[in-house]
Amino acid sequence: MSYPYQIKSLADYHEAYKKSVEAPEQFWAEIAENFSWHRKWDQVLNWNFDTPKVEWFKGGQLNITENCLDRHAATQPDAPAIIWEPNDPLEAHRTLSYKELLQKVEQFAHVLKNKGAQKGDRICIYMPMVPELAIAVLACARIGAIHSVVFGGFSSQSISDRINDAQCNIVVTADGAYRGNKNIPLKSIIDDALVTCPSVQHVIVLTRTGIPVSMIKNRDAWWEDEIKKVEEMGNPSFPAVSMDAEDMLFILYTSGSTGKPKGVVHTCAGYMIWTHYTFVNVFQYQPGQVHFCTADIGWITGHSYIIYGPLSAGATSLMFEGIPTWPDAGRFWDIVQKHQVNILYTAPTAIRSLMGFGTAPLENKNLSSLKVLGTVGEPINVEAWHWYDEQVGKKQCPIVDTWWQTETGGTMISNMAGVTPAKPSFATLPMPGVQPLLVDENGKEIIGNGVSGNLCIRFPWPGILRTTYGDHERCRQTYFSTYEHLYFTGDGCLRDEDGNYRITGRVDDVLNVSGHRIGTAEVENAINMHTGVVESAVVGYPHDIKGQGIYAFVIFNGMHTDEAHTRQDIMQTVARVIGAIAKPDKIQFVSGLPKTRSGKIMRRILRKIAEGELSHLGDTTTLLDPAVVEEIKMGRL
Ligand code: WT7
Repeated sequence: MSYPYQIKSLADYHEAYKKSVEAPEQFWAEIAENFSWHRKWDQVLNWNFDTPKVEWFKGGQLNITENCLDRHAATQPDAPAIIWEPNDPLEAHRTLSYKELLQKVEQFAHVLKNKGAQKGDRICIYMPMVPELAIAVLACARIGAIHSVVFGGFSSQSISDRINDAQCNIVVTADGAYRGNKNIPLKSIIDDALVTCPSVQHVIVLTRTGIPVSMIKNRDAWWEDEIKKVEEMGNPSFPAVSMDAEDMLFILYTSGSTGKPKGVVHTCAGYMIWTHYTFVNVFQYQPGQVHFCTADIGWITGHSYIIYGPLSAGATSLMFEGIPTWPDAGRFWDIVQKHQVNILYTAPTAIRSLMGFGTAPLENKNLSSLKVLGTVGEPINVEAWHWYDEQVGKKQCPIVDTWWQTETGGTMISNMAGVTPAKPSFATLPMPGVQPLLVDENGKEIIGNGVSGNLCIRFPWPGILRTTYGDHERCRQTYFSTYEHLYFTGDGCLRDEDGNYRITGRVDDVLNVSGHRIGTAEVENAINMHTGVVESAVVGYPHDIKGQGIYAFVIFNGMHTDEAHTRQDIMQTVARVIGAIAKPDKIQFVSGLPKTRSGKIMRRILRKIAEGELSHLGDTTTLLDPAVVEEIKMGRL
């Protein structure tokens, strides 16, 4: 496949950017011409940020899987679409060509249809990182069902909240998952979740680990048995269902500043074009290259840059089931060497954690296939950037630092590999179509360079979220009401003298732990579920590897045993309610929290204490009980 819209030089970039701002409709229409449509659009863009309403390619009809599969299966049937590397290096890897992947997606589309799935149904997918996860996602898209993938690290409670919010009727899962030396009992977690999910009629269970699972008559069926039925039907093809450009493609739940995660909704055409365009340009993908994005498909990075972006471009996408440090800290490098990886896209947390093992795991690894490196999910510190550049890229590979969010669908601000300049710890320049601006607290735009403020976007790009599932008002409130007529990202940002953007971190009550978004309110709710907890306040603090760690201040009533034990109990409670990823790193027991007279917790003070900045706490005179601050300072962990 060729990409006529691939930007090849800095001059190209400036030209494309200018056009995308001055004539956005023409700009995106020309790109959209390169995809397969059942019917062309009537109107390129219709929008206002106040309702909000954003419609791209309205009237157009298509199916994203034809763009990701059929057209490549026709022109390059034997090209590898997915290379799958298992958790255990002793297990054989698998390669699925475009022809094979299409056939498997069609088979599973039949399975879903046999279970009664219809266009518009919501289907929850809770699976390990195996090719069947990608197959299930694409099969949903093929029949026009809306997938809601839930990361395999979330608890039963989190899953049932998500299933109930979206009223899913089918769940696709596996018996278990391997992650490093752990076995995770996915089906058993699903069974617990489904006790409170009356909307679910069918569960399809893939065999992965072989652990015993319960199978409930008329509800649960094995993936393999269902596939056999389709084979017995003679493996009929499955024509892709025609979708409106603005029909929902998927829901992905993400944390915000309230206790309840929200279902970010992306639609078919805009999301497809955005992930494709950003994939091809940011990574400067060349046909035949192997792209390795280390994220889990349970997060937006996996949706956009393991599945939809690469496959829409006819690329080879490497999917990895395991973790970077098992069986040893050379796992990524073994994979790069084994599969001749050309593009490696990972999180700063992974880089920092591998840095901790020194350069020994890199010795005798042939990384010469690497052409482009990328980072995503959190700010990368300059030290980690240089380590990545020197030890992994051998100073031969441009590094792209891609800033974006679940809500933006794909990369918003990033350099383009080898085409636009990189600057360590800076995401640098906006993608064509992205119009960033910085505003102060009052919403006044901050003009000029060498300034910082809150990052907003003023014009829609094709991949912008359309709503939060079942609650459009929440979407308006969260993203479009803080500043009039603007999309607010929730991030703080600075713009240097040359106009490069550097994301400095969240300015709301959202933490970024190892590149995963966690709301402080969500963690507090979970901690407060513990019988002995009276009240809690959670803040982030700088963590060498995770970027941010979770620091919890807890008022506890009637210690059952000792403090260490109680801490463990609280951790267990959080793991039960949300999942292990939300476990606090530190729990400090306090007798009170710093509150204003109106009862509001002054998090600013707690944040400073957690960061270890004990002497500059700012004004504490408005506190109800200033003495409590001294006590908290003394007890700091
Ligand atoms: C938040 C979005 C982007 C997909 C994975 C995370 C932070 C993301 C960067 C970056 C600095 C970054 C922001 C953003 N973030 N990329 N390159 N540099 N910060 O998606 O879970 O929706 O989180 O991650 O704070 O708002 P997400």
